[in-house]
Amino acid sequence: FQRTVIGERSVIMVRDVDGSVNVVENVCAHRGMRFCRERHGNRKDFFCPYHQWNYSLKGDLQGVPFRRGVKQDGKVNGGMPKDFKLEEHGLTKLKVATRGGVVFASFDHNVESFEEFLGPTILHYFDRLFNGRKLVVLGYRRQRIPGNWKLMQENIKDPYHPGLLHTWFSTFGLWRADNKSELKMDERFRHAAMISTRGQSGKNERGRWSGVNSFMDQMKVLTIHDCSTSFPTRWCGGPECSDDYKFPERDHSAAGQSVSTRHIQPNGHGSLDFVWTHFAFEDDTPEMLERRLIQANLFGPAGFVSADDGEVIELFQEGFEQKPAYRSVIEMGGHEIGDIEYKITPGLIRGMYAYWREAMGEYYCPRYVCLLARSNGGI
Ligand code: FES
Ligand SMILES: [Fe+2]
Repeated sequence: FQRTVIGERSVIMVRDVDGSVNVVENVCAHRGMRFCRERHGNRKDFFCPYHQWNYSLKGDLQGVPFRRGVKQDGKVNGGMPKDFKLEEHGLTKLKVATRGGVVFASFDHNVESFEEFLGPTILHYFDRLFNGRKLVVLGYRRQRIPGNWKLMQENIKDPYHPGLLHTWFSTFGLWRADNKSELKMDERFRHAAMISTRGQSGKNERGRWSGVNSFMDQMKVLTIHDCSTSFPTRWCGGPECSDDYKFPERDHSAAGQSVSTRHIQPNGHGSLDFVWTHFAFEDDTPEMLERRLIQANLFGPAGFVSADDGEVIELFQEGFEQKPAYRSVIEMGGHEIGDIEYKITPGLIRGMYAYWREAMGEYYCPRYVCLLARSNGGI
């Protein structure tokens, strides 16, 4: 099993004896305790340590200590009432969808299918990354960031910043303003994909295609720029470095030869855990495995990305708390919401808040009201 969260709700994903995957809420049906504390492990069943109620891997209640009371002096004391039924007191079960080795779950059993949820455009990029090749986990990285979870969503959907904030990317030519890029969304703007192919311009005179002056032509990260056929990368001969984001909290990315997911886990309104899982494939050679490990370590707070996104989000949060009525400017590239063929734009953020308003109704986040109202042809 693997313990994780959906929003702020703790859930357990577990493989059943028949190979299927169940997801149940990590809250005991007795008195509401979060009974599972390990992050992962193997179990034949689950039990809650408080009063040892026992559940099957499907979440069905199987046993209740002293259910029939305690016999004392020829008399039975206590016990559950006669109308108590085990089948009415299981764990909350979630609807599960699996595709390409990735498991998604929802508390809503009437939710649309996973394929309908993503829509054909985003599904295409999802399938490119998770095409059924067997994955193995290389490792995890967890960051607790003092900021609202939506700030991380915005940050991931903001391809305007990487070459400017993470100067390392530009210095080594990994981020180039002349990369051919496309930003695509599903029709309700819930999800997005950002696809980049390396630019083909010649010499970088006065930062023409790096976009910044810190670029150094001679510096290369060998593990990424090596185009040998034994280590084909998405940067060499194309086509893509891709990132696809599922609303509200999942990001799957492939850059160079690293494959990772990033999970935004909110802790209240002012804090989030940012959880990376780095993957390899089961049939990787030892050399490829090492290469994926090196690349995985380039990213994240201990990587080479210069200032980390987590630092920025902390400062964002402080800024918004100081000036709550502040309105962000997300107008670069226009006010419209739709697919875009370049990346210096916050267009995906406009899409994200269009869907946020739809989902939240009158309780939408007020930060982008003006811009989005205008972009929708309103006031
Ligand atoms: S709270 Fe779980 S068994 Fe009592
Ligand atoms: Fe970033």
